[in-house]
This record gives sequence, C-alpha cells and structure tokens, in this order.
Amino acid sequence: MTKIYGHNSTNSHHLYEFICPIVIRWSGKMSFAIDVQHLTKKFHSTLAVDNLTFQVGKGEVFGLLGPNGAGKTTTVRMLCCLIPPTEGSASIGGYDISSIEGSMKARKIIGLVPDNVGLYDTLSAVENLQFYGKMYEAPDQLVNNNIEKYLKMLDLWEKRNQSVGTYSKGMRQKVAVARALIHDPEILIMDEPTANLDPEASRTIRDFIIELKKENRTIMLNTHNLDEAQRICTKIGVLKTHMITVDTPGNLQRSFSGSRISIKLADINAQILQAVKALNLGNIFQDSGTLLIDLADIDKDTPVVVNAISAAGGKIKSVNEVKMSLEEAYFKLVGEE
Ligand SMILES: Nc1ncnc2c1ncn2[C@@H]1O[C@H](COP(=O)(O)OP(=O)(O)OP(=O)(O)O)[C@@H](O)[C@H]1O
Ligand SMILES: [Mg+2]
Repeated sequence: MTKIYGHNSTNSHHLYEFICPIVIRWSGKMSFAIDVQHLTKKFHSTLAVDNLTFQVGKGEVFGLLGPNGAGKTTTVRMLCCLIPPTEGSASIGGYDISSIEGSMKARKIIGLVPDNVGLYDTLSAVENLQFYGKMYEAPDQLVNNNIEKYLKMLDLWEKRNQSVGTYSKGMRQKVAVARALIHDPEILIMDEPTANLDPEASRTIRDFIIELKKENRTIMLNTHNLDEAQRICTKIGVLKTHMITVDTPGNLQRSFSGSRISIKLADINAQILQAVKALNLGNIFQDSGTLLIDLADIDKDTPVVVNAISAAGGKIKSVNEVKMSLEEAYFKLVGEE
C-alpha cells in the first residue's frame, strides 16, 4: 500500500489532553493501587522517562506498551523502589515510594517479575521459592500453600524438586512468576512476562494472569505484544519516554477506527487523485484499485469525497469504513511521536 498524500495527524495528543484532566480530577476522590505523578528519570544526559502521570485502580490490569528503549523497565524499576526517580513521585498501595518507610512498605505489597529472571540454579523450584518466601518474611504456611498453588497452576508441580539450572527458559519464567506471588502481594508488576516464550508457554502465563485478574489483584505489565495487551489488560498506557495516551484497549482501537474509509473504484487516474487531494481531508493511500482515506468526520466527509470522485469521472464500486486493529492504532500513535 502506498501513501500518496498526507500529513501527521495529532489525534493522540488530543486524546491525551482530553483524558488527562479527567484522571487528575478523579485522583483526589479515589484511592489508586498505583498513583504516578510527574515521574521522571534521567541517566546522565539520557532522559529515560519524562514526566509520567498515570493511575492504576485496584483490580485493574494495566499494560505499559512501548517500543525498545521507551522507558518501560525504568518505570517499573522506579515503582518497585529499585532506583530513585530524578523528579516526581509515586504511591503504591497508598505508600509514598520516595520516603524510606513508604518504600519499605511498598516493597512488601509488590510482587515483581523482572526482565532478568535471576534464580539460584543449584536450588530446586521449591527451594528457590522457600528462600524468597523467607526474604519477604512471609509465614511458612502461606509460602508452602502458595508454592503448591502456583506451581500446580503453572504446570511445574511434577518437576518441583528438580534444580532450576536444568529448567528451560519458559519453566524458569514460570518460577519467576510464582516467586513474585509467594508473599501474596496486592500488586503484581511484570516486566515482559512472555518475552522469549513459545506460544504455548506464553499462553499458560496469559491464562494465569487472567486467573489472577479474577482474584482482583492489581497487575501492571510491560509488553511489546499487542495481542496480549488487548486480551488481558483493562487499560493500556502507550509509552515512548513520555506517556502518549492511556485508555482501554477498546477505546484505543475505536479512537482510530471509523476515521478511515476504503473506496473501491473501477479505475484510478490522476484526475481522480487530484480531486481527492484537493479536498485536503487527510492521509490518502492507494492499494491497487482502492483508495484509503483518513477522515476527521466520517459522516460529514464521506459524501464530499464520493461527490468529488464522481465529478472527476470516477466509477465507485463500493465504499466501506475501515476498522483498525489495536496494532494499527499503536503504530499510528508511536509513529507520530
Ligand atoms: N542504568 C542505565 N544507565 C544509563 N541509561 C539507561 C539505564 N537504564 C536504562 N537506560 C536508558 O533509558 C532508556 C529506557 O530504557 P528502558 O530499559 O527503560 O526501556 P524499555 O522500554 O524497557 O526497553 P525494552 O523494550 O528494550 O526492554 C534507554 O535509552 C536506555 O538506554
Ligand atoms: Mg525493558
């Protein structure tokens, strides 16, 4: 498909400007599991995360979506009190992470699945989990119950006594997920939980997250996987150093769907193209005998386009609204930055 006319739209900014004031107005009245205000991280001259403000409600599954280097891991590391922010603040379960006392309390209610799993290879899955249970000072009974519960849910129970050094990547990832839950945290934060996993292992983890969602736990996950985000997240933040937009997967998709029409023509010639370009409505793409046109107001603009094509001698075979996938919406948002 060739782009034959167009300029960069500013849809995403409008959406962000629209959403932000609403979220900020709510924040005074609701208690959020994760409340991030103007969070910023600089590594020397590198601005890794710029002025992030977002909230995650209790029981929500929040997906942070963004390209490589967008600042996802840096954000997670700040929220888990592993690195301090340069500016801004965040509270986790109501605890302010910038105070020593708050960060100690926040750590206890967070379970983290980091981007690097890091387990003790000579220990078995059970021994690893018991060790981390002790680190969290969780009662033995709780730890043992959770070991059984999660290793069974994740299909690792049979191999529980084998040293994790002999485990496959997917199995190690599952142990890391079980480890994050060993102390029954209110908030689970996962940095790309299905990265490098085969489709079956990814699906086990995804189904597992959906099960946790039913337990009303708050979950935040970083991902590149749009399909995953769409299936399991209640809200998605699109990040590229700064937050481009925060919305439900459905709204993100809808915010772009319906803004594009597809017109199939018997023939497309220079006169027809000139007539459509002259309307100055939005991007125009040509895919053999079909024109795809981005419109600001589909109801108002469609008849205008149809009339212009007819007046230029074009024979229209069909006119359809194009439904964009979340993937297309994502690429449009990220590509515009
Ligand atoms: N410890 C560090 N020192 C210097 N720069 C860093 C450090 N950690 C991260 N950065 C920089 O911050 C930016 C954001 O990195 P980050 O790892 O947060 O991105 P990401 O969204 O998690 O990417 P990916 O999808 O590849 O995991 C990058 O430019 C990275 O080089
Ligand atoms: Mg990362």
